[in-house]
Amino acid sequence: MHAIWNQYPEIKQELEAVIDLMDKNAYCKDKVIENSIKELVHTSGKMLRPGFSIIASKFGNYESERTQVLAAILEMFHMATLVHDDVIDEAKLRRGRETIQSKYGKNYAVYIGDYLFCICFKLLAQTASLHSIQMDSKAMSRICLGEVEQLNSRFDQTATVKDYLKRISGKTAELFALSLYLGAAESECNKNMSRLFWNIGYNIGMAFQIIDDVLDYTSVNEVLGKESNHDVKEGVYTLPLIYALEKKPQVLVDLLSKESYTNEDVELVKHLVFKYEGVEKARVLAKKYTAKAFKLIAKLPDNQYKEMLKEITALMLDREY
Ligand code: IPE
Ligand code: IPE
Ligand code: MG
Ligand code: MG
Repeated sequence: MHAIWNQYPEIKQELEAVIDLMDKNAYCKDKVIENSIKELVHTSGKMLRPGFSIIASKFGNYESERTQVLAAILEMFHMATLVHDDVIDEAKLRRGRETIQSKYGKNYAVYIGDYLFCICFKLLAQTASLHSIQMDSKAMSRICLGEVEQLNSRFDQTATVKDYLKRISGKTAELFALSLYLGAAESECNKNMSRLFWNIGYNIGMAFQIIDDVLDYTSVNEVLGKESNHDVKEGVYTLPLIYALEKKPQVLVDLLSKESYTNEDVELVKHLVFKYEGVEKARVLAKKYTAKAFKLIAKLPDNQYKEMLKEITALMLDREY
C-alpha cells in the first residue's frame, strides 16, 4: 500500500479491505485473466480514487461494506483503463512491473481490461443506485472519448491548451469527480453536497493529470514506476510541450515535424520544453486547479476528513510519482 495512507490508518484499513474485496472478485475460469487481475490488485498503485471515495462517504451516513464495494468498483474501473491505456501507449512498465500488454500481448490485454469492466458492472448492479449507475456509465463514456480525442490529436502541433484541458477533463478528471461524488451520494449526502464533491474531484483530477504530464518530463522510470520521456515518443503532446510550442521556436517545430523521433530527438524536445518554460507554466496551472479544489473543500463542514482531503490534495501537487 502506498505510503500516503500511512498517515491515515482508518482509511488505510478500509483500503486493505478494498484490496481483499477486489481479490475475491477476481475469479475467472481463464487463469491468465484471473492471475493478472490479482497481480494488479496486489501491486496496488496509490489507491487514490477508492481513498477519495471513502473519505467523501464519511460526510454522510457512512456504511462500511457498501462504501468498500463502491471503492473497489472505482479502483477496478481505473485498472481497466490503465490496462487498455498501456495497449494504446505501447507502455512496457506500470507500477514498477512489466505491463500486461507487454507480458501477455495486446489481445490478452484487451480482454483482461474488458473482464475488469465486467466485474465492475456485476458489483455495480449488486450495490449502487440506478442514479449512480447512470453517473458511472456517463463518466466511462467521457473517459473513453477523452482517450480517443488524445489519439486523434497525436503529433498535432496546432493543439491548444483548451484542447488539452478538454481531453484531460475526460480521460482523468471524470473518474476523480465520480469517485468523490459516488462516495458522497451513496452515503446519502444531499444533492448539493454530492455536487460539491463532484467539483472538488474534478479540480483535483485536472491538477493530477497536469502533474502526471509534468512528471513525464521531469522524472525517471525508477521513481515513476512507468516510463518517463514517453509521451513525445508516442506523439502525445501534453501541456508542457503545448506551452513551449506557443512561443513557436522553429527548432522545436522542425524537430516535431520529423517522420520519427530518435532518443536524441526526444531529449532535445525535453530540453526545449524546459527552455521555453513549458514545465514551469504547466506547474502553475496545476496549482490553479488545486487552489480551486481548496476553495471548494472550504465549503465542506469542518471535521477530520475535511483536513485529510486538504492534505492529500496538497500532496498530489508535490508528488514525485
Ligand atoms: C495513472 O493514475 C493514470 C493517470 C490518470 C495519470 P495513477 O497515478 O493514479 O495510477 P496508480 O493507480 O497510482 O498506478
Ligand atoms: C492514463 O493516461 C489513462 C487514463 C487516464 C484513462 P496516461 O497515458 O496519460 O497515463 P500514464 O502515464 O500511462 O499513467
Ligand atoms: Mg499511458
Ligand atoms: Mg495514455
